[in-house]
Amino acid sequence: MTWPAPGICYGGDYNPEQWPRDVWDEDVRLMREAGVSIVTLGVFAWGTVEVADGVRDWSWLDDAIDLLHAHGIAVDLATPTAAPPSWLLTAHPDITPVLADGYREPPGGRNAWCPAHPVYRRYALRHVEELARRYGAHPAVRLWHVGNELGGGNVRCYCDRSAAAFRAWLADRHGSLDAVNEAWGTAQWGHRFSAWEQIDPPRGRHGAPNPSLYLDFERYSSDALLTQYLAEKEVIARHSAAPVTTNFMVGAGAHIVDYASWAPHTAVVATDHYTLVDDECREQDLALAGDRTRGMSPGRAPWLLMEHSTGAPSWQQRNRAKDPGEIARNALGHVARGADGVLFFQWRASRAGAEQFHSAMLPHGGTRTRVWREVVALGADLRRIAEVAGTRVEPARVAVVVDDAAGWALQHGLMPHRGLSYGRELRAWHRALWDRQVLCDVVPVTAALDGYDLVIVPTLLVVDDDAAARLAGVPERGGTLVVTYLSGICDADGQVIPGGFPGRFRDVLGVWTDEFYPLQPGERVALDDGSTVADWTERVVLDGAQAVVRYTSSSLAGAPAVTERPVGTGAAWYVSAALELDSLGRVVDRLLAETGVPRTVEAPAGVEAVRRVGPGGSYLFLLNHTDAEHAVTGSGAADLAGTDLLTGAAVAGRMLVPPGAARVVREHRTHP
Ligand code: GAL
Repeated sequence: MTWPAPGICYGGDYNPEQWPRDVWDEDVRLMREAGVSIVTLGVFAWGTVEVADGVRDWSWLDDAIDLLHAHGIAVDLATPTAAPPSWLLTAHPDITPVLADGYREPPGGRNAWCPAHPVYRRYALRHVEELARRYGAHPAVRLWHVGNELGGGNVRCYCDRSAAAFRAWLADRHGSLDAVNEAWGTAQWGHRFSAWEQIDPPRGRHGAPNPSLYLDFERYSSDALLTQYLAEKEVIARHSAAPVTTNFMVGAGAHIVDYASWAPHTAVVATDHYTLVDDECREQDLALAGDRTRGMSPGRAPWLLMEHSTGAPSWQQRNRAKDPGEIARNALGHVARGADGVLFFQWRASRAGAEQFHSAMLPHGGTRTRVWREVVALGADLRRIAEVAGTRVEPARVAVVVDDAAGWALQHGLMPHRGLSYGRELRAWHRALWDRQVLCDVVPVTAALDGYDLVIVPTLLVVDDDAAARLAGVPERGGTLVVTYLSGICDADGQVIPGGFPGRFRDVLGVWTDEFYPLQPGERVALDDGSTVADWTERVVLDGAQAVVRYTSSSLAGAPAVTERPVGTGAAWYVSAALELDSLGRVVDRLLAETGVPRTVEAPAGVEAVRRVGPGGSYLFLLNHTDAEHAVTGSGAADLAGTDLLTGAAVAGRMLVPPGAARVVREHRTHP
């Protein structure tokens, strides 16, 4: 697709409707000063344009788009369907979603609509059609932004309309009621259904809904929101040739919707990312989100960071400002991992409304603030590295496999351990690689795995035949497969695979688990590598594999904790315990040594290093997230050599990266 603005896109959400007209002139002047090249316009502007049913005041939006265009700023035009106007919600109060406990959301928020509601759909598409007709050919409109954080912002809807839509979805997926009964194992508790009307969404506050029903309801809910996206996209395409996307909320855990299945429907994968105050390694969470976003971008094509923050958001308990330099490190961290655009929420801080204390590119304090100075400096940095745009992150040799459905299944129902979040192992394995400057792609379970030397499968509870076969194929072709506990246990319907855990992966791993031993709070089990584990252990029986690490305490003493089964020139590893970072790091060191996967550079943990490559060159991003200066050298025999595009300094052999600093080195090396 044609990229919406030259180089690395820079900008943010722009809400001129919140300001008097004379402020807009200052806005565009300051946008140019900061190097803003694109803004997202109109995200929540349904009610300010369609002021009454069918009555539209386009004047301010006409003016804003023309003004931006006159100043050379591209528009990422949003369909404002995230927030229906008050008059529509008053006329049709049942548009808002009903929660699992029967509580209907009141108006006054946003993303609060039932995706199965025909009136919402009709009004939304009618407005999108008018919007696309009016601006579809406007030269400023370089990208379309459907709704806002579809899935992330929306809650599940359990109303009667959703129930009916769910039943239709089930008929489509399973073909017959008998097939549903079979897939869900409704013989348990005598829940057999004899008519479709007997099936409801998993409502209620307590109890234990059938896990297979729950899993299908999650899938239905993802598809219901995707249907809304696709309907809007189709309307837009009737009037505009500009590319269409929507902002995902890619993170480490199980998403609200299955973004990987949505990604092929976007012209460019776009996502939002906010760091969390109580995250003990915020930068790694950011890196993981980038690796996962790239992993779902078809062909690993450059993606767009649609939102992040210049400082404190306003939705956490204690909203933390970013440290000096952190704005640039965060933004460049996304670029390093494949973003060709970094945008913020939002351009100018709002005086009023729910988000009045949210940070912005232009804070309430105006241009004399530190944030403003850093925003202007970042704009200049992005211009200095403009030649990086269009290059790709170098091919990773490690893949970490993720699946939202597996996460939904893990986090719900009467599980052996209800305190395990899906993102936990994903975070831990990614962290060990991140600490060692080893690049990985975080890929959906549907991805081709051929190019990877090392494939890591954390807590993939649910797995279908196709994925199981592709994963088992990794060691057979000489690669190394690592599978953690609570993987391969259930089929795609959520039913346990008989014969012992880890079901689908027993044969390839050469082990089977006799029994799970979830640990109690405070309980720890020792390992023969000197570490201890909390939360999760298992009694593993070797069946072709050998023990690498053993348990040394509890009733499991002497039993294998980590195993390896050599398969030709490949290997299959099983990790039955929730390893802590030190122990997991030792396993990772051994895996890297055995597979020969190199580090991007040699540097201490906390220094991030990623390389982007293209026909024109090779660019090494270095981000020092620590408060000490660190030396970075090439990995193995390769020396660092090139020029830092941010400072202009020559780099030869060894590079000192000051605390908190970022470097982007154009390397004197060609890349295959
Ligand atoms: C996002 C949302 C934005 C804004 C932002 C604040 O989730 O898309 O509209 O509310 O959060 O951090």
